[in-house]
Amino acid sequence: MAGEDFPSSGGALDGSAPTTPKPVLEAVPTLQNLKISRVQSLDNLNTTPKDCTYWREKSLRRLFSLSKSNGVSKSEGVFEDSVRLHIVEESIECLRRNDYGGYTIPAHNLYPFQWNWDSAIVAAGWAVFDEARAWAELETLFSGQWEDGMVPSIIFHKPSTTYFPGPEIWGLPGSPSKSTGITQPPVAAISARFLFEQTVHGKLAEKKMADLFPKLLASHRWWYKARDPEKKGVVAILHPWESGMDNSPAWDAAMKFPTDNLPPYERKDLHHVSASMRPTKDTYDHYLTLLYRFKAENFYDWKKLYWVSPFRMTDLCTNSILFRANQDLRWLAMKLGKDDVVSEIDEWLDRGFEGFKQLWDDNAGLYQCQDQLTGKLVDAPTSAAFLPLFAGVASKEQAAKLVENLKQWLDSVPFGVPSTDPNDPRFEPLRYWRGPVWIIINWMICNGLLHYGYDDIAERIYDDSVALTSNAGLREYFDPKTGDGCGGELFSWTAAMCLAWLDRPSALAIGHRMSGPKILS
Ligand code: GLC
Repeated sequence: MAGEDFPSSGGALDGSAPTTPKPVLEAVPTLQNLKISRVQSLDNLNTTPKDCTYWREKSLRRLFSLSKSNGVSKSEGVFEDSVRLHIVEESIECLRRNDYGGYTIPAHNLYPFQWNWDSAIVAAGWAVFDEARAWAELETLFSGQWEDGMVPSIIFHKPSTTYFPGPEIWGLPGSPSKSTGITQPPVAAISARFLFEQTVHGKLAEKKMADLFPKLLASHRWWYKARDPEKKGVVAILHPWESGMDNSPAWDAAMKFPTDNLPPYERKDLHHVSASMRPTKDTYDHYLTLLYRFKAENFYDWKKLYWVSPFRMTDLCTNSILFRANQDLRWLAMKLGKDDVVSEIDEWLDRGFEGFKQLWDDNAGLYQCQDQLTGKLVDAPTSAAFLPLFAGVASKEQAAKLVENLKQWLDSVPFGVPSTDPNDPRFEPLRYWRGPVWIIINWMICNGLLHYGYDDIAERIYDDSVALTSNAGLREYFDPKTGDGCGGELFSWTAAMCLAWLDRPSALAIGHRMSGPKILS
């Protein structure tokens, strides 16, 4: 594979015959060999996609590729830098503290259950110091998978009184539900490939992957049967919570439907975080209207929900992640010798590639979400617009236009990437997905930028992410104007991003020195 920062286990999507899984032994980092090789430009960037087989000819940047030049010296310095060393230790401590036994809650009190995409991302953080625990994270997540293949957005393993809406709202007071009835962006296959590929415990990885693969496949099949019954090539979300970007301005226009008469409810999030950083009451009324309607609809029957939901959106975040996850699922299928499913995944990718073309807004120079009920592209410049770079689905020309926009955004705030264009009137620097910076989104955008050869901007975003976490710690999200931390504290996916991405060399060096069970009671 071109432009790798560590050896591959044979993995370009090159159509080669499947081989027995042979996980790579990643060299145990020492202070001497922590040098990160300079990121090379990909050799295939001169190729303009002409047809939908383009994605097969290129290999995406490895998940946690690090930035070049400054990144090298910075990351090398990181180990000596007491602030970053402290962050690594705190991140390990944070995951252990949020470990409820096989799953990691996002943050105490605010989010006391297992969240779907949080867990898939957090698994990569565990992997740097406890591989078995990383696999357990995914296993526990899939223990909540529904029979129809859906992986719920939240799994309520143990009761908690600090979150609303909890199990008795999703189910019934006398018969609480074990999970929500909606989903979240499907990061799991991306994470599973990462764990499998970078394993130092080959036998363990082979066993875990053999168990996990059919479940991953079932979850991707669910997306297509339940959320793309019209074969658009891109899937629908039916609730803003499914996007993971709950109150993004991209949902404003669609979230204007009349709300129902709701039973009285108490927002528990406001006990933990200032109202100025959270969605408004009107937004919550709409969230709950959707929830109660879905529940009334035969308890979340996937065959019906797509047709009855007053909110049906082609979300860029979900679709970019699904497109990339399909590529990783295909890679895994080939490694595991599951040739029979490769053509099915190819079809998803081919159609996905076509589907994404409909989401390109050439005037804005951005991808946009699409309201499936009106057929209109949603004019809302959010950070999700850059995620097709992570999917690798943008053409070279589209990537150039995206980068032009991204540069303007970054010129307007000291810390990127804001979740909404800072020059847009809907930008609110403190309010959740309407302005703040999220480190997981920075990681995905960076990874995409490196893939397309925009190393300098990737470096800016990497540096901003380091600065934000250095100054404000492991917060849920950050104010792009001041760099202040917002939302929850000691947040698991921010910790995982420090371990797996920002401080990867130091974290690996520390992680490899650790042994024994990592779960604290
Ligand atoms: C919020 C975020 C969502 C995340 C969850 C737990 O709801 O919007 O993306 O999964 O918190 O961290």
